[in-house]
Amino acid sequence: MVSRNETKGARIMSDLDQQLRKQAYEEVNKQKEVVESDPYRLAYHVMPPVGLLNDPNGFIQYDGVYHLFYQWNPFKTEHGAKFWGHYTSKDLVHWEHQDITLTPSDWFDKNGCYSGSAIEHDGKMYLFYTGNVKDENNNRETYQVMVESKDGVHFEKKGVVVHLPEGYTPHFRDPKVWKHEEFFYMIIGAQSHDETGKAVLLRSDDLENWEHLGAIAGAHVGPFEDFGYMWECPDLFELNGQDVLVFSPQGLEPNGIYYQNLYQAGYVVGNVDYDSVQYKHGDFVELDRGFEFYAPQTTEDDKGRRIMIGWLGLPEEREDAHPTIEHKWIHAMTLPRELKLIDGKVYQLPVEELEQLRGEGVKHEAVELGEKAQALEGVEGDVLEINVETLETVTNEITIHIRNHANLVYNPIDKLFKLDRISYVDGETVEERFCHLQQLKSVRIFLDTSSIEVFINGGEEVFTARIYPDVNENGISFAAEGEEKVTIEAWKLK
Ligand code: FRU
Repeated sequence: MVSRNETKGARIMSDLDQQLRKQAYEEVNKQKEVVESDPYRLAYHVMPPVGLLNDPNGFIQYDGVYHLFYQWNPFKTEHGAKFWGHYTSKDLVHWEHQDITLTPSDWFDKNGCYSGSAIEHDGKMYLFYTGNVKDENNNRETYQVMVESKDGVHFEKKGVVVHLPEGYTPHFRDPKVWKHEEFFYMIIGAQSHDETGKAVLLRSDDLENWEHLGAIAGAHVGPFEDFGYMWECPDLFELNGQDVLVFSPQGLEPNGIYYQNLYQAGYVVGNVDYDSVQYKHGDFVELDRGFEFYAPQTTEDDKGRRIMIGWLGLPEEREDAHPTIEHKWIHAMTLPRELKLIDGKVYQLPVEELEQLRGEGVKHEAVELGEKAQALEGVEGDVLEINVETLETVTNEITIHIRNHANLVYNPIDKLFKLDRISYVDGETVEERFCHLQQLKSVRIFLDTSSIEVFINGGEEVFTARIYPDVNENGISFAAEGEEKVTIEAWKLK
């Protein structure tokens, strides 16, 4: 915990806290009109009120209410000294913006209150985050900080609880905390001195004093020889009796159709032995096959569901090229997805509460698809859910054209599923992402004004992306290279 001196320092800095809050609220108010007039503003996704949003943080259900915090730079559509913004929801569908939770106003977080997590203990909510500090020579320091809240409304920084252990560079961040039997555990994304990515485990019996147990995954720890130079945002949880480690590795080379994005987000499945501090796990699998998906975080709710939300964005991409920056905001969260482990694979299903969004709907049974792309009555729009079920084994290539901007294609010969879109960087180049798919049974598509999320075969594969079609292009059409029969349902979303 902080020493007396440091506490004094923190008190002096609290003027800065007030000032930063005031400036952030001023920016929200000043830009409100310009932000809200953006036709690409999303209808049912979490977005920043102004500025840049990145990772989901502190995702928790507390006292029956879901809390979702987020990395936020209120002042620019670029990365910078992050705040924690805060949304709450009773149903994972309708979100209310709350007061700012954390500002980068203390000596231990002056260059950013970076990512972290939440846990409930003795009726209180505790947050753990990384205090990012850079000195005048741009050298980085990292501190893991604890925050206490008695009500989920007021938050008090309690100070630094973990300093950088030996063996790691200051790329040591994003604490995720949970309880297992009688101990609390914290997993941190790290880079060891040999510049390889690691997931590091710590243990505590009181949330304040943490013992460094060591790396449980990463290069030369388990099966990986080399797996990127840094792992961000680890999250370790049990699913169906197995221990799933989700993380976002940086530095993987493209591998065939996989690892095509600058950075990845995925998981391994295995078993943690908490006594010997060992994690035996299998291969890495990308969680999402689309263009923008990163730094996901999960929580378990009172229905026992493991729910994940990801950042519908990527670090170090062409932020300057997103059209929303003219309207002073950038990025969003994915929809909340329930995770299931089926045959060793993590499936993602949009949470059932999202059905509340459904307005007027149509159902076209046993539609015969052919070479000529056909539009269907009621299946059009920019804020829409579409569900396509195949009725027989697909033997011909099927294409779904979306708003003259993106296409979903299943090729049963190559057994590949593809999402393509027009690049937002030049508005011309067609970019593609793929995944292997043995069989196509169903495609569930969530369109929002400028995003697409595609859940294939009940969540076996997922593609997530931002799309920026012409705002008047609302057409959706379906085609197949030979006869294919499908049932198509669609709902306007509210
Ligand atoms: C991942 C990340 C985290 C860090 C945060 C800073 O996108 O780089 O590792 O804590 O974003 O905003």
